[in-house]
Amino acid sequence: MSHVIAALTRDHANISKLLEILESEILAITVGKTPDYPLMQDIMRYLSQYSDRFHHPKEDLIFAQLLRRDPDVRIEVEELIEEHVLIGLAGREFSSLLHASSVDSVVLRERLSSAGSNFVRSQREHMSKEENKLFPLAGQLLSEKEWQIIDGAIGSIDDPLFDEMTSDDYQRLYRLIAG
Ligand SMILES: [Fe+2]
Repeated sequence: MSHVIAALTRDHANISKLLEILESEILAITVGKTPDYPLMQDIMRYLSQYSDRFHHPKEDLIFAQLLRRDPDVRIEVEELIEEHVLIGLAGREFSSLLHASSVDSVVLRERLSSAGSNFVRSQREHMSKEENKLFPLAGQLLSEKEWQIIDGAIGSIDDPLFDEMTSDDYQRLYRLIAG
C-alpha cells in the first residue's frame, strides 16, 4: 500500500473517533442535556484546520490523477471532490450553530442536532466510499513517481492532535481520546 494511502486511512480512523464523540454529544442535545460545547468546538476546529486544509486537498489530487489513468471513474471522482466542498460547508454551518448555542441558548436544539447529525453522517458515508473503491484503485494504478508528486504538492504538516506532540490547543481532547 502506498504510504500516502496508509496515512489517509489512518486519518480516517482518527476522524471516526472524533465523529463518535460528536455523535454522543449530539445525542445529549436530543435528550435535552447540555452538551460539552468546548469539546465539540475543539473537534470542529481540528477538522477544519487539518482535514479541510490537508487531508481533503491531498485526496483531490489523488482522485484527479486517478481520473487521468482511468476515465471510467469520472462519476465517482466528481462526486467525492464535490463532497469535500459540501462537507466543508456542513462543518462550517454546524460550527457556527455551535458557537451561537454556546453563547445564547435561543438557538433551537433541533436545528443544532440536525446540523450535527448531517455532518457526522455525510463524513462517514464519504470516507467509506473512498476506502471501498477509490483508495484501493489508486493503490493499484498510481506509480511511485505519481505518489511522490502528490505528496510533494501538498506536503505534510504535523497533525496537531494525533501526532506525537499534541498541540496545547487539543490537550483536553487528546486525553479524552487516549482514555
Ligand atoms: Fe478522506
